[in-house]
Amino acid sequence: MTESQPLTASASEPEERALEAALRPKNLDDFVGQQRVRRQLSLVLEASKIRGRTADHVLLSGPPGLGKTTLAMIIAAEMNAPLRISSGPAIQHAGDLAAILSSLSEGEVLFLDEIHRMSRPAEEMLYMAMEDFRVDIVVGKGAGATAIPLELPPFTLVGATTRAGLLPGPLRDRFGFTGHLEFYATAELELVLRRSAMLMDMKVNSAGFAEVAGRSRGTPRIANRLLRRVRDWALVHGIEQIDARGASEALDMYEVDARGLDRLDRNVLHALCTKFGGGPVGLSTLAIAVGEETETVETVAEPYLVREGLLGRTPRGRIATAAAWAHMGLAMPANAVLAAGQGTLGFGPDDGDDQD
Ligand SMILES: Nc1ncnc2c1ncn2[C@@H]1O[C@H](COP(=O)(O)OP(=O)(O)OP(=O)(O)O)[C@@H](O)[C@H]1O
Ligand SMILES: [Mg+2]
Repeated sequence: MTESQPLTASASEPEERALEAALRPKNLDDFVGQQRVRRQLSLVLEASKIRGRTADHVLLSGPPGLGKTTLAMIIAAEMNAPLRISSGPAIQHAGDLAAILSSLSEGEVLFLDEIHRMSRPAEEMLYMAMEDFRVDIVVGKGAGATAIPLELPPFTLVGATTRAGLLPGPLRDRFGFTGHLEFYATAELELVLRRSAMLMDMKVNSAGFAEVAGRSRGTPRIANRLLRRVRDWALVHGIEQIDARGASEALDMYEVDARGLDRLDRNVLHALCTKFGGGPVGLSTLAIAVGEETETVETVAEPYLVREGLLGRTPRGRIATAAAWAHMGLAMPANAVLAAGQGTLGFGPDDGDDQD
């Protein structure tokens, strides 16, 4: 196995891409979940087909692993159009973008991944290209510089971003449709897994799918990754049909627990409960207690723990919620009740740093 990231990481590694590509749904009907976005998008595409026009520019936003790249490919496929792929970080100069734009064919879909990471000058060139299908190519320097307008064939830009908030307003406004992808429900992940298992020629029963889905953090990428690990486990143990027990045994072995928490997540909760009585405790103190960098705890472990309502951020520090105590199988001390205070969990102002 070449995957070196934690199994629960939501981003993908280069070695994983080929495996992912094999499992990507190729059309909207095979794309599971995201009902709202799927319906809206399907309408946009249908309408443009009826009008015989290139589809409006589409912006896809949402956390890693929820299907932005997959949808971009589906858009091109549904429009029967060629697809060009590039990304914000790859476009550092306006010239890089000009080269791409000027070589597009009519109706082509241009997918710009991580569009929030494009350079400023390229971004400005993109505004004009999106709106008027035209770019100004600047030739020469200083006083002698001239802008040569270049007409572009109509194309569809599909932008993807994990950080929609970072996109400048003028860029966001030029998209005709914005689809925001949400985390998947467990039942939807089960469907993703069913499809993947079929493609991977695995036999898993319903309870087995449910077990894997429940540990997948609402993310198809993680679901598929866990499924591959379950497949390894079954292969080595000579197990033909995977049930809930098999799936949970396999994933327990990889230290992904019933709620999708990995080792770091559990260490954080464990320290919070056993060393600090459930908090509040400052982030950096908590990080030291688990032997990790503050940033790792904050960016790797915390978001999912907060999302799951296991950890709360309060002005006085991090606290374990009642659900966290229960999940860790620990009895919540009576004086920790306050820490499980209602309402603002996860939304309180960041404690910034320790106050100890
Ligand atoms: N709705 C879905 N149905 C089935 N499989 C899906 C769905 N969404 C995502 N997947 C699978 O999850 C994997 C990751 O999806 P994708 O690469 O599209 O995510 P992404 O949003 O582009 O992530 P990133 O932000 O890291 O680029 C793919 O292998 C794809 O097969
Ligand atoms: Mg992607």
